[in-house]
Amino acid sequence: MTAPVEHCVKVSLAERSYDILIRSGLRGEVGRCLRGLGFSGKVAVVTSPAIRRLYAPAVIRSLRQAGYETRSILIPDGERAKTLRWVSAILDELATARFERGSVLVALGGGVVGDVTGFAAAIFARGIPCVQVPTTLVAQVDSSVGGKTAVNHALGKNLIGAFHQPRLVLIDPETLNTLPTTEWIAGLAEVIKYGMIADEEFFAYLERHMVALRKREDGPVAHVVTRSCQIKAAVVREDERESDQRRILNYGHTVGHALESLGKYRTLLHGEAVAIGMVQEADFARYLGLCPNEVTARQHALVREAGLPDTLPRVRFSELWGAMQHDKKVAHGHLYCVLPERVGRVVIRPLEPSTFKRWFASRGDKQERRPGSRHVASRPKA
Ligand SMILES: NC(=O)c1ccc[n+]([C@@H]2O[C@H](COP(=O)([O-])OP(=O)(O)OC[C@H]3O[C@@H](n4cnc5c(N)ncnc54)[C@H](O)[C@@H]3O)[C@@H](O)[C@H]2O)c1
Ligand SMILES: [Zn+2]
Repeated sequence: MTAPVEHCVKVSLAERSYDILIRSGLRGEVGRCLRGLGFSGKVAVVTSPAIRRLYAPAVIRSLRQAGYETRSILIPDGERAKTLRWVSAILDELATARFERGSVLVALGGGVVGDVTGFAAAIFARGIPCVQVPTTLVAQVDSSVGGKTAVNHALGKNLIGAFHQPRLVLIDPETLNTLPTTEWIAGLAEVIKYGMIADEEFFAYLERHMVALRKREDGPVAHVVTRSCQIKAAVVREDERESDQRRILNYGHTVGHALESLGKYRTLLHGEAVAIGMVQEADFARYLGLCPNEVTARQHALVREAGLPDTLPRVRFSELWGAMQHDKKVAHGHLYCVLPERVGRVVIRPLEPSTFKRWFASRGDKQERRPGSRHVASRPKA
């Protein structure tokens, strides 16, 4: 990394407000930052093997230097760790080590570590502080901010969870340099989403800097992480518990989640599914006359430039519609969809099955492989 960049984004939620600090090298300052918040209890760092190797030593050293009694708790890498069993394993360790109300959990890792740790913090001793130290792009721009924590149930992803805001989010963009390329690119989908839902200028920035972002150049990376956090923080501030406005964050996710579940969470990374979802949902908006061709074309070009997939896997309408019904975006029996009107502005609309079916049929045979087949070279994934 070149010159240190420091940014602070505030998430304003009355007594649950917190800061998101963004600076390279911040992983070595976790202890000092916790002291700054006045925490005096024990600290447990929850992480997974791949991340422990890379980043835990610096974090633990900084905590010890700041005088904290520290232990680390390991959960597996990848989605398979998002179970009640692993939450229970964390709680066992905390209870055995006599953690209490004033103790702190630090989540060091991607969205999986963040979600599991956040949920454990939400329920241990009726809630203890959690500090997020996200190490993937998805976690830095999305999952570490906003307080949604969850684990999976056999019958549904993220079905068991709680709202529990972190007390601090410490983002060290340097950690992104070791991220596998597929994970990096998948994270870019959520970044493009922020441009589409809230900020045309940011979208234009992404158009100008996508080549640099593909190369993970420091300046553009720090900017997109910061701007994405600002947008997410603004949306969460308006609607902490997703009763209304926060739903715009689900742009691309109505179709995206259905594709993930049809592929049994093995064929597409979340961001890849969201990219396809955004392209398809925008095309549906164009079909409805909500947005002009220019909007879908700009988004499509950026998705492709990022190296993200854009084509719906070969799937029957009934399969897709069926998978969409299981989504948490069904409220009172109605499925809703977030649709673009222009770049930087979306609306939330109920999804009419007959209209959606007509759009689906109108697309002709633009589909690719079955959702069970991988769209790019295989990736190691738990
Ligand atoms: N709570 C929320 O609001 C929210 C939002 C979006 C996603 N999520 C959840 O986040 C999860 C996905 O998160 P993710 O995409 O970060 O996946 P992940 O946590 O599984 O991480 C992806 C892979 O990258 C590895 N990794 C992490 N950081 C690394 C680094 N710096 N260098 C090298 N390897 C690294 C991990 O070990 C893992 O194998 C899903 O479970 C999803 O439901 C939650
Ligand atoms: Zn997402």
